[in-house]
Amino acid sequence: MQPDLPALLGGTPTRPDGPPGWPLPDRDVQAAVTGAMAVGAWGQYHGEHICALEAELGAFHEVPHAIACASGTLAVEAALRALRVGPGDEVVMAAYEYESNFLTVHALGAKPVLVDVHPHNWQLDETKLEAAFTPQTKAILCSHLHGGLVAMPAVMEIARARGIGVVEDAAQAPGAMVAGKPVGTWGDVGTLSFGGSKLLTAGRGGALLFNDAQLYQRTKTWLHRGLQQWAPLSELQAAVLRPQLRKLRALTIQRAERVRELVGWREEPNPLTPFPRKEGGAEPNTQTTTLRSPVLSPSPFRGGVGEGLQAEPNPLTPFPKKEGGAEPKTEDVKLFAALSSAPLRLGEGLGRGSSIRPFTNLTPSSVAAFYKVGFQYAPGAFGLSREVFVKALRAEGIAFDVGFKALHIGRSPSRFRAAGELAHATDAHERCVMLHHPVLSGATADVQQVADAVAKVYRYRDRF
Ligand SMILES: Cc1ncc(COP(=O)(O)O)c(C=O)c1O
Repeated sequence: MQPDLPALLGGTPTRPDGPPGWPLPDRDVQAAVTGAMAVGAWGQYHGEHICALEAELGAFHEVPHAIACASGTLAVEAALRALRVGPGDEVVMAAYEYESNFLTVHALGAKPVLVDVHPHNWQLDETKLEAAFTPQTKAILCSHLHGGLVAMPAVMEIARARGIGVVEDAAQAPGAMVAGKPVGTWGDVGTLSFGGSKLLTAGRGGALLFNDAQLYQRTKTWLHRGLQQWAPLSELQAAVLRPQLRKLRALTIQRAERVRELVGWREEPNPLTPFPRKEGGAEPNTQTTTLRSPVLSPSPFRGGVGEGLQAEPNPLTPFPKKEGGAEPKTEDVKLFAALSSAPLRLGEGLGRGSSIRPFTNLTPSSVAAFYKVGFQYAPGAFGLSREVFVKALRAEGIAFDVGFKALHIGRSPSRFRAAGELAHATDAHERCVMLHHPVLSGATADVQQVADAVAKVYRYRDRF
């Protein structure tokens, strides 16, 4: 038997024990559970943890109001209700979206209006919004999916000009930033999920984020029955989330770094040192110094899977000051430096050209968070159907999956209105693959295994 035969062909899996589980053991979470046991918080209606978590979520996201609740799905419904979405209204959303968001719009008696996604990252294409609006349009619902980021400044500008509300679903991207601002805080209402696979997990749970006091009050009122909030988060859930939130920034950087290693930089010089000291020039400024922190040192994973591909213009613009906004904070600069929103490609060694292409986020000063790492898979270039590719990688112990089903496919057209062509959403439906995040919490060697497994499957592509 050839030593490197893919597992699906009878060889030894790259990770014989399979992908890492989730959640990972965490001493601080353990301590939170023990503490909740010690003071009885585990069994109480009311205690310190829910209030503290809501305050900490608000502080982390730099918004005045947060509400914890039972799930991300409920949070999206509450957010749409806060914007007074109801029967007869239309809600504009991407045709490549989380299905339950589509169903939630229906649950409110409203109609989903589907727009296409961007070809470079398969996220809602804001240039398609105007054509989707009618007098019935009540809200835009947008999610940041699989490491992709929606161009929120543009979405908000369009929505504000038309007086349309925006729900920003950050379930897959807590800790990410768009244009220097945390995701979930651009929309009129932001939502989070604490479901069992999520980056912040309590098994179940969700939250809402608000800048606007009136929307916050309206949501509180809807969620309260007498003295109680219905569908709440429990004290114990809140207790285990608090230490996770404290680590979120550091882990966002770590995961982005693992993704950077996985896909490899092509640009020279390395874009993580965008302020090189000029010949005979001045010392680098503080931003440069920050960028050279150990977490950002050039990857030992030379070229990784990105070797051999053509460089593209680098959309990394060095921390532009937001229009009328604040300077980015040092930690934001670090996050930004670790970002993955540069043009990266898994490539030549694995397929010809861009056979597995990471999403590219073009909004400057943005930092992706990776609950999943989405890729644009080209079956023809790689030489395997998407389904066989995923099956072969899973047999290697690598948690790849196909992406979501697009909302307009396999559904009666009476259930939605398509605003224009949905060609890129169809493409996403057919070609999206994603890597689940737990492997990104490991070491460089773990993502090396991911690349090795992909390379192995590629070498034997003619044998499947
Ligand atoms: C984009 C998005 N929105 C909402 C949700 C729903 O969250 P929950 O499972 O907490 O209801 C999910 C869950 O995966 C999601 O990915």
